[in-house]
Amino acid sequence: MAMLTVKEIKARKGKSPIVMVSAYDYVSAKVCAEAGVDIILVGDSLAMTLLGYDSTLPVTVEEMMVFVKAVRRGAPEGFVVADMPFMSYQESVESAVRNAGAFVKFAGASAVKVEGASDAVLSAIDRMVDAGIQVMGHIGLTPQSSVFSEGYRVKGRGIEEAKALIGQAKALEEAGVFAIVLECVPEPLGADIADAVDVPVIGIGAGRFCDGQVLVFSDIVGLYDRILPKFVRRYANGYEVVSSAVKRFVEEVRSGIFPGEENVYK
Ligand code: KIV
Repeated sequence: MAMLTVKEIKARKGKSPIVMVSAYDYVSAKVCAEAGVDIILVGDSLAMTLLGYDSTLPVTVEEMMVFVKAVRRGAPEGFVVADMPFMSYQESVESAVRNAGAFVKFAGASAVKVEGASDAVLSAIDRMVDAGIQVMGHIGLTPQSSVFSEGYRVKGRGIEEAKALIGQAKALEEAGVFAIVLECVPEPLGADIADAVDVPVIGIGAGRFCDGQVLVFSDIVGLYDRILPKFVRRYANGYEVVSSAVKRFVEEVRSGIFPGEENVYK
């Protein structure tokens, strides 16, 4: 299947739901590609779900590069978005463009994602787009800035916060993003934000009326259980499956069942 283009992704708005999965390595990317996932996001959530940190903040550009390259190898024809880690785009417009460019040029990303819609972030988006880099926005709950300020909570419950989020979505569209991730807002606000902009709004905990949905791979397959938000649906208990396989290996080695006749060279 040929790689989706930004034009095709935008044309899906309001017509056919866009499916995005946050996945981080060769195998999960291959699984996503084979399942027909439209966009693979190499999310900085990997800092928590894969690397075991308490937040997304510690992961670096260098570390993210390794995962983006692995995902590209697992999904050679996939539309792969590299999540820009904390402090890779906030410091200056120049460093934002340089880091985003590295994800595209050296790791094979199709696009990058940044969190928030502050003036600094909007200027960075503007310059990245000007340089020919495709950018996805992310508003609502933005884990990089929320973790220490107010924790992970539903955003936009009050009228002022709701209006501010609609304004942020419009500002991101104006700055040139091709799609927006909207995280953890009440369903009616998710619908209003999707209506307020012409670019696709991909929800995670933003209700049923967005233009697409995203979940994290390890949540879908049940591999990460330290945090389980209401918006997650688990489609498998991967932790149990993996854990029982490893336990059986341990038992079989200890009891002499493994290796068997079929596993040895004659
Ligand atoms: O880091 C991530 O995986 C994300 C998604 C949850 C949207 O940003």
